[in-house]
Amino acid sequence: MTIQQQIEEIFLKEPIPAETLEKMEEYRKKGYSIPDERLIKRPSHIQGIKEAGIVNTAVLDEVCRQVHEGMSTQEIDDIVASYTKEQGCICAPYQFEGYPKSVCTSINDEVCHGIPSRHRKLHKGDIVNVDCTTIKNGYFADASRMICIGEVSPERKRLVEETKKCLEVGLAVAKPWNTVGDIGYAIANYAHGLGYSVVRELGGHGVGIEFHEDPFVSHIAKAHTGMLLVPGMVFTIEPMINAGKAGVLMDPYNGWTISTVDGKDSAQWEYTILITETGNEILTY
Ligand code: MF3
Ligand code: CO
Ligand code: CO
Repeated sequence: MTIQQQIEEIFLKEPIPAETLEKMEEYRKKGYSIPDERLIKRPSHIQGIKEAGIVNTAVLDEVCRQVHEGMSTQEIDDIVASYTKEQGCICAPYQFEGYPKSVCTSINDEVCHGIPSRHRKLHKGDIVNVDCTTIKNGYFADASRMICIGEVSPERKRLVEETKKCLEVGLAVAKPWNTVGDIGYAIANYAHGLGYSVVRELGGHGVGIEFHEDPFVSHIAKAHTGMLLVPGMVFTIEPMINAGKAGVLMDPYNGWTISTVDGKDSAQWEYTILITETGNEILTY
């Protein structure tokens, strides 16, 4: 049996608890949009995603240990690719929809999907997002961190720290029977209070059995809208917060890298989380 078949079989062998289904049905009658049953991971799926998360965290830890001023973003790619392979795992980005590298490295005004390159060096004062997605035994875990290269300006330090706070503000409302919109509402409300803007075009996503699953987790939304959050759902929260205006543009040459239109800085932090009976559990750091 292939790994994919084993993952499929778990959906049949480990049904969703009846109480969860009953509660979902009550919300559905009230007009809420409820998740498809395939978006509710079962205990064995959750175990697999947790194991992918442990490796994902170790990969990012290894990057943090080795990162230094003057290195190229290709060297980060080399670290991620070799460490992931050593752990018997796969880098999900590699050849995903034609993506050419194993990790995304997005510097300063780059919002996300920066492509590692021998020619792009890290300079003192840069802020870089390293976004890593790890596949272990067919299960996916996705996380990113900001790294400051040497001493950075107070403005950059604040953006990096407050963007992490945005993720935490989202986590605080990521609990069962809230909605996806509650997360975006909390994050945007916090970010706007600081004078920052929130990227709209990209967001978090269901993850675990595929790289990108439903729901789309907008980081700017209306409270009490969007899909109901149900125990067993696994998704990312990954706010992209801009120091200036919200507008972003894709690099027309490489077809991937997203940057701010105004050239001001952007930061992002990402966790994969599990909705539990009482709140959430972070599966990556
Ligand atoms: N890891 C990114 C995310 O958080 C997706 C990167 S897609 C890639 O969803 F192809 F650029 F790797
Ligand atoms: Co993601
Ligand atoms: Co990611």
